[in-house]
Amino acid sequence: MGILDKHKILETNATLLLVGSLAVVTIGGIVEIAPLFYLENTIEDVEGMRPYSPLELTGREIYIREGCYVCHSQMIRPMRDEVERYGHYSLAAESQYDHPFQWGSKRTGPDLARVGGRYSDDWHVDHFTDPQSVVPESVMPKYGYLLDNLIRPTYITDLLNAHRMVGVPYTDEMIANAAADFEVQADPEGDWDGLVERYPGAQVRNFDSEPGISEMDALIAYMQMLGTLVDFSTFTPDASR
Ligand code: HEC
Repeated sequence: MGILDKHKILETNATLLLVGSLAVVTIGGIVEIAPLFYLENTIEDVEGMRPYSPLELTGREIYIREGCYVCHSQMIRPMRDEVERYGHYSLAAESQYDHPFQWGSKRTGPDLARVGGRYSDDWHVDHFTDPQSVVPESVMPKYGYLLDNLIRPTYITDLLNAHRMVGVPYTDEMIANAAADFEVQADPEGDWDGLVERYPGAQVRNFDSEPGISEMDALIAYMQMLGTLVDFSTFTPDASR
């Protein structure tokens, strides 16, 4: 009996074919996926990456609440047109503390993975308040009400704890100082040494130039840090992996 005849037995018996296909797909799946759970370096450690500061993390919550991901991605693919427009392609490590990730699947607006530092805080306030005043043809909705929503760090400790539960390495010190760090990041007059020590590269400013801490402050703090943590002038991908 030739190999084709043997295969015919499989192909003419629906149940056998189904069981056979399942076996093949299972083996293939295990071979592809299982090693990822055992490799220590599925995600290459990259210098500069750190968990989000409390105010940035709050801004990220607002980003998710407002559905910004519906129109914006946060993942620069390693293709020339993307790299020329947005900068260095995204590294896995850059979203390692994102729960849930914000890669996105739709770009009605530009990718935001490296929007940090591209515009001034004032530009962001104007743009969020009335996108069409800055980019006349924009279809982005207005988010001016974020300026009026003043926020307190009531649940910030819980938020950091929740992220720690899913694997973000928030230390006890970070959690103990969460509320103070939240407030001081928007207060350049305050004592923010500890904040910057805990979250290197954290930017301390009154982001919306208005008194009090608003959702606008938090969202802009988040925008301005996106893509700024890894220094790509010194970063070299580890080719040995
Ligand atoms: C309906 C789709 C849509 C939604 C929802 C949306 N945007 Fe946009 N966004 C756009 C478009 C289109 C542009 C490009 C034109 C412009 O700058 O307004 C843009 C531009 C931007 C820019 C400037 C990016 C750059 O590199 O020039 C930022 C920052 C931004 N959006 C942030 C946000 C945030 C934060 C939210 C949620 C609060 C949001 N967007 C919600 C469509 C959207």
